[in-house]
Amino acid sequence: MTRKIAVLAGDGIGPEIVAEARKVLDFLNTDMDLELSFEEGLIGGAAYDEHSSPFPAPTVDLVKGADAILFGAVGGKKWESLDISVRPEKGLLGLRSELELFSNLRPALLYPQLADASTLKPEVVSGLDLMIVRELTGGIYFGQPRGVKILENGERQGFNTLVYSESEIRRIGHSAFKIAQKRNKKLCSVDKANVLECTELWREIMDDVAKDYPDVELSHMYVDNASMQLVRAPKQFDVMVTTNMFGDILSDTAAMLTGSIGMLPSASLDANGKGMYEPIHGSAPDIAGQGIANPLATILSAAMMLRYTFDLGAAADRIETAVNDALDKGVRTSDIYSDGMTKVSTSQMGDAVLAELK
Ligand code: IPM
Ligand code: MG
Repeated sequence: MTRKIAVLAGDGIGPEIVAEARKVLDFLNTDMDLELSFEEGLIGGAAYDEHSSPFPAPTVDLVKGADAILFGAVGGKKWESLDISVRPEKGLLGLRSELELFSNLRPALLYPQLADASTLKPEVVSGLDLMIVRELTGGIYFGQPRGVKILENGERQGFNTLVYSESEIRRIGHSAFKIAQKRNKKLCSVDKANVLECTELWREIMDDVAKDYPDVELSHMYVDNASMQLVRAPKQFDVMVTTNMFGDILSDTAAMLTGSIGMLPSASLDANGKGMYEPIHGSAPDIAGQGIANPLATILSAAMMLRYTFDLGAAADRIETAVNDALDKGVRTSDIYSDGMTKVSTSQMGDAVLAELK
């Protein structure tokens, strides 16, 4: 059996951080005989430059034939003026939607060594360990109609549609409840049910799905309050489940609680456990090519891939322990640097993790 991994490095810092995750995976592949095979493909701006499409046919074929996808990041200045339909971000959205990767897991875990790197007080964030489950293939990101039209008076009007069918809410609900069962059995569903009918339905369906999980305690929170609670008292949360756009926003907030968005991995899963794994940060064009990006979010995404798609928990544990041990040694990329630590480059951070693995 070979485990086929499509590698889509993308744009900006994507290739730099993916290279470090590959170092780690290549080592474990040999060391533990994991039978991983890798094939690279183009996505985002890099794909547009070659094929005039951010998600071209060869990449569609590659990801459809793969068991898992390791993804870097997409986007950059160079492509910002393109029509929205062919912008690099459309490549990522196309991939999520084409493979029906509806369940996006974004864990926010504070490494104790980084408590000082957070902008919040150490007592507010120490011990933080929460999981955001974001619906990823529906909602306002994909709803129709959408666009910009010209009104009768000549003025332009932009519009998007927030839409969720009952079945879409149900399946992300089940996904989140199952994760809560494996953690501390507390699930908070985040919506805007006081204003938006669509999320009033969301709340109703979550209550219904809850009947199948009597061991999990379900609560509901409006998104504005949730964003406030995340910075006020984040440790009240165990698992949060929310819509595509609310999850996009809240996961950036959760990331910063941990000190740096450069630390957070993610998994995007379909109904059968096939998945795409990517850091939650973007392509960071401002620092691309300088060798200063933090590769840990991508390395930790590789660990999630081994755990969730391939059920290789022991290999995943080894990566996570190695990251922890490397941090213990005091190596820091500049985003998580503090006084007294050793500032390292992207590839030195990868090497430090590799050294701990060995
Ligand atoms: C994310 C990103 C993407 C999103 C962008 C790059 C399209 O912000 O994965 O959180 O909005 O989903
Ligand atoms: Mg985002």
